[in-house]
Amino acid sequence: MPDLNAKSPVWAMIVLSDVTSTRRMEQVRSDFVANVSHELRSPLSALLGFIETLQGPASSDPEASARFLSIMESEAQRMARLIDELLTLSKVEADEHITPDDVISVDQIISDVAGLLSVRAMAKGMKLRTLVEKDLPPITGDADELTQVFQNLLSNAINYGSEDTDIRLDIGLVENLPETGVPGIFVSVTNHGEGIPAQEIPRLTERFYRVDKGRSRSMGGTGLGLAIVKHIVARHRGHLEVKSEVHKETSFTVMLPRFDENIL
Ligand SMILES: Nc1ncnc2c1ncn2[C@@H]1O[C@H](COP(=O)(O)OP(=O)(O)O)[C@@H](O)[C@H]1O
Ligand SMILES: [Mg+2]
Repeated sequence: MPDLNAKSPVWAMIVLSDVTSTRRMEQVRSDFVANVSHELRSPLSALLGFIETLQGPASSDPEASARFLSIMESEAQRMARLIDELLTLSKVEADEHITPDDVISVDQIISDVAGLLSVRAMAKGMKLRTLVEKDLPPITGDADELTQVFQNLLSNAINYGSEDTDIRLDIGLVENLPETGVPGIFVSVTNHGEGIPAQEIPRLTERFYRVDKGRSRSMGGTGLGLAIVKHIVARHRGHLEVKSEVHKETSFTVMLPRFDENIL
């Protein structure tokens, strides 16, 4: 250690701040605000347009009025969903690790989520097949957040999978999770369909990123589902893997560390 009280030499401290990274963060933030505004403005413009039509030309046409009202309902629902998902995202985005206070049986969550979405799958002629390894240990985590993860993944498999195909839900043990090396549980959601080109995969979990914007919109998508999945999985010290073969299979695998009495 230098003696700072000594007469010479003179010590100086220079603080270098990373301007590039600050600028990049500002850019990301302003892109996000622009995206949110755009995503909220388009259903809002549709609503305003239909209100004007209903007050004017369509006011004496009950058939057209009913049709417009049903479009207005789905646009309003899209806005409500977007706001809900933005709130969820802002909650989970902090990336702080969750306090593992719920002891969770993953197969129970999967069976609840499958039950919830089975009507939508059936409407596309899809069957949900669940394969669960025997004697799975519980894990610790946040039950509501994990339910959200599997709802988003299964909902994507239904939306982007082809009609009259099966969706597979596999649940089993993992010996070593990537990065942490701890044992855990995996859940894979696999569907058949167009798939995702390899170069698109790294960007899937970005906020508002969609491979096919028109298709996502027609499904009522917000482009936030996988961003939410990514953050919840990270908060659980887990890992997300995406594999896709174009025009064949796509699978999203979530790995979560298993229940540990020592951290309760
Ligand atoms: N199972 C899947 N098969 C093909 N593409 C998918 C699948 N899951 C997600 N994607 C692609 O990833 C994009 C982002 O997904 P997501 O964040 O859930 O947003 P959203 O579904 O609202 O568009 C989707 O728009 C779609 O292009
Ligand atoms: Mg989605």
